Amino acid sequence: MARSVLITQIGELVTNAPDGVPPAPGAGGFAAVSDAALVIEDGLIAWTGPAAHAPVADEVVDAAGRAVLPGFVDSHAHLVFAGERSAEFAARMAGRPYAAGGIRSTVAATRAATDATLRAGLRRLAAEMLRQGTTTFECKSGYGLTVADEARSVALAAEITDEVTYLGAHVVPAEYAADPAAYVDLVCGDMLAACAPYCRWADVFCEDGAFSAEAARAVLTAARARGLLPRIHASQLGPGPGIALAVELGAASADHCTFLTSADVDALASSATVATLLPGAEFGTRQPYPDARRLIDAGVTVALATDCNPGSSYTSSMPFCIALAVRDMRMTTSEAVWSATAGGARALRRPDVGYLAPGARADLVMLDAPSHAYLAYRPGVPLVHAVYQAGEPADAPGPAGVAV
Ligand code: NIG
Ligand code: FE
Repeated sequence: MARSVLITQIGELVTNAPDGVPPAPGAGGFAAVSDAALVIEDGLIAWTGPAAHAPVADEVVDAAGRAVLPGFVDSHAHLVFAGERSAEFAARMAGRPYAAGGIRSTVAATRAATDATLRAGLRRLAAEMLRQGTTTFECKSGYGLTVADEARSVALAAEITDEVTYLGAHVVPAEYAADPAAYVDLVCGDMLAACAPYCRWADVFCEDGAFSAEAARAVLTAARARGLLPRIHASQLGPGPGIALAVELGAASADHCTFLTSADVDALASSATVATLLPGAEFGTRQPYPDARRLIDAGVTVALATDCNPGSSYTSSMPFCIALAVRDMRMTTSEAVWSATAGGARALRRPDVGYLAPGARADLVMLDAPSHAYLAYRPGVPLVHAVYQAGEPADAPGPAGVAV
């Protein structure tokens, strides 16, 4: 019989499971229980409910009134890269606009880096995420842009997450500037063949200065033929065809959605495609934030993610994104927490995470705070007291080590 752990005296338990049962696919909203407890067994949630009704267990953890939430699900991150672009950030804050071309300087640094350097950077960011309560994350390639460099990027990502995304179509590399169509052929051909075994997802940066809708459709169709599911960077820098294409292809998610047309909102609302909003990117590029209220009020499923990357959004912090979403995107605290947990799970089509009810993976965050609202109410404060992943306490929070 597996050893059971009872966590009790939970001030607020966010379950995202109304009625305490696992939400049906595509259903369920924010739900929380006060003065709660939960039981972990075999890495899974075995029971949740009022502390007064908790069953006995082999081990008892006293949460002392703290809030417990599902672990954050960061469904959009670019973690395999070398170098940094703080000078570009500083110039942007001094008035220079963000342009997709900055990606190429990270590509040069990434190509020049050893596997060991890339692995160390990736693991540093993954540890940083875990300390901040992220228990599931997606990781894209996209800074290699040769067959060998994209293949090693996805292979490295696959060492630490199941949610690996092929983003060979991030930007056309300089050596193909005169013949972008030949680069799209490579992305659909040899590069895809080398990367597909490591990936669950394929993504395209569909934007002026990156890839057209036609190129994106070609890449995602080729990827789907190899079993990779589509997601799209869409309408980040201006209105464009990416959201409509995401819906057309049945993509799990259209990401960014910073510039929305009415047709985009209608298309998302009548689809199963999640709108993944990435407020760290608007913060880091000083762009207007996406209109979360318009999307939610139209019935669109919204996820929040970090977009962690060295150019537009060098944050690994889901609490920071929640605070931005509440303060600047007019999401309620409960909507923002739902979108950062269950919404991310939806964007990754993961039925096992993002909620806490019997059968869910026991991924949870305990806050040094009595409610989820503190994540926005006390922005920038390290509120994560403990993190459990598949029922096991994650390593104690500690210093991040030397930044690359
Ligand atoms: O999601 N938009 C494309 N990719 C990243 C930016 C990458 C970079 O600037 O290095 C994003 O914002
Ligand atoms: Fe991105």
